[in-house]
Amino acid sequence: MNPTFRQLKIFESVARHLNYTKAAKSLYLSQPAVSMQIKLLEEQTTLPLLERIGKKLYLTAAGEEMYRYARNTIQQKKDVEEIIEQLNDLQKGHLNIAVASTANHFVIRLLAAFEKLYPQISISLDVTNRSELLKQLDNNERDLVIMGQPPENLQLNAIDFLENPLVVIAAINHPLAMQKKQITLEQLSHEHFIVREEGSGTRIASEKFFKNHQIPFNTTMDISNNRAIKHAVEEDMGLAIVSLHTLEIELRAKSLKVLNVEDFPILRQWYVVENKHKRLSPIAQTFKQFLLQRADQAIGNLRTNN
Ligand code: PGA
Repeated sequence: MNPTFRQLKIFESVARHLNYTKAAKSLYLSQPAVSMQIKLLEEQTTLPLLERIGKKLYLTAAGEEMYRYARNTIQQKKDVEEIIEQLNDLQKGHLNIAVASTANHFVIRLLAAFEKLYPQISISLDVTNRSELLKQLDNNERDLVIMGQPPENLQLNAIDFLENPLVVIAAINHPLAMQKKQITLEQLSHEHFIVREEGSGTRIASEKFFKNHQIPFNTTMDISNNRAIKHAVEEDMGLAIVSLHTLEIELRAKSLKVLNVEDFPILRQWYVVENKHKRLSPIAQTFKQFLLQRADQAIGNLRTNN
């Protein structure tokens, strides 16, 4: 016995409706064409699959078995088609993400590693600060967002995937950069800081740290860009608190010093976040898995001691 897929589809429809006319209609076939295929199928099985008692059509025991087999085969074909469609989407999918300004310093490396695995995808990347990211999530504008821990009261799914240590930096020739002993928080309270703009996650975390330790946080200038903050610190305009992830070039060039301060680094985490109501595309789901499993490896380790 070797029924064709077409025969199974026709039989499944007849068995479901227990009616030739309805089955023929749902398959856009004529009733004689349907009856003919059922007859051929019965000839192959050498057993009747349907029986008519009075005006009603019933499945025989062999018919019940064939019905189960037909349904499974149809479902399996659908499953395979779905998987192939998803794989096709994945190959040429579009990834639409936004990241915190600070995450910009490592996200390109992550995207480069991801793109090597899926060379045909295209990517839109928006780089902005925390408050803007929260707005974009609320409006369901992005597949995924990479940011510091989002507030818990919002309709978001957030999973941490990477540490984000915040450190104090100073100019190479700053007196605190020369100090051998660990710097106390009391000493910091006499220093001036250059900070990020309102709405920045780094700024919120820094303010919280000083508040929790009950020491003054003297800020002299705010700048909306990590790179400009680092230049200002190199020019000895003040100290700053930045993510270690923003410092790779400066640490290698030894143009800035990470200070050894008590209770530092402030240990934060990077989160991959999506709106709870978002149905992630296959490419977005794959990128999320990539972040959770491979981010550490793709970024490599940054050193704090320079
Ligand atoms: P920021 O991002 O660039 O807004 O400071 C960091 C964060 O969200 O923690």
